[in-house]
Amino acid sequence: MNPIIAPSILAADFANLQRDVELLNSSEADWIHVDIMDGIFVPNISFGIPVCEAINKHAQKPLDVHLMIENPQNYLEAFQKAGAEIISVHYEACNHLHRTLQQIKGLGCEAGVALNPHTSVSLLEDVISDIDMVCIMSVNPGFGGQKFIERTYEKVSALKEIIIKRNAKTLIEIDGGVNSDNAPKLVKAGADILVAGSFVFKSEDPAKTISSLKKNS
Ligand code: DX5
Ligand code: ZN
Repeated sequence: MNPIIAPSILAADFANLQRDVELLNSSEADWIHVDIMDGIFVPNISFGIPVCEAINKHAQKPLDVHLMIENPQNYLEAFQKAGAEIISVHYEACNHLHRTLQQIKGLGCEAGVALNPHTSVSLLEDVISDIDMVCIMSVNPGFGGQKFIERTYEKVSALKEIIIKRNAKTLIEIDGGVNSDNAPKLVKAGADILVAGSFVFKSEDPAKTISSLKKNS
């Protein structure tokens, strides 16, 4: 099965956000990945709720909102109102992950959990059936354009085993340093969704890059 492709708007031209969202609308992208960074959970600040709203005004595809923020539970409703269909919170930022997942679902959104590279997938065993999507970070969150961490393949396979063992329907998303070399291997290991920022937007023809990532993975 072809993976879901979720280009990351973080790598778009922010001075031409509408143009780049429209580019994604007319491409084979399935979702639009929206990276929210607060400068506390990660050492960088991207953009917040009003920009998410502005993206949503033009987007014709689901917004996959990745919250790289502390206390994400305080902002779930704001992001749902700003157009998020999928909301991922970081495992490392949630003291009461189960409650936060129920809050996301209560808003009518799909609930995702993102894992930093140092966080083991085994920590999700007890809650896997409550998670619609696990986002395995294949770089340290905070910046686009970083190098893919090779250990990710093993994490994908291990997570897939847990999902099968628990009879869950959880999807696996990979975020960071995804390109045409690692994409087919990631899908083979069990990935369902590929996020790609720089590889798409820094390419000569982003729509063509999205299409080939989808077809050749
Ligand atoms: C990293 C972000 C990623 C990033 C991916 O903190 O969560 O979504 O935009 O960008 P690339 O594909 O350039 O690594
Ligand atoms: Zn992301």
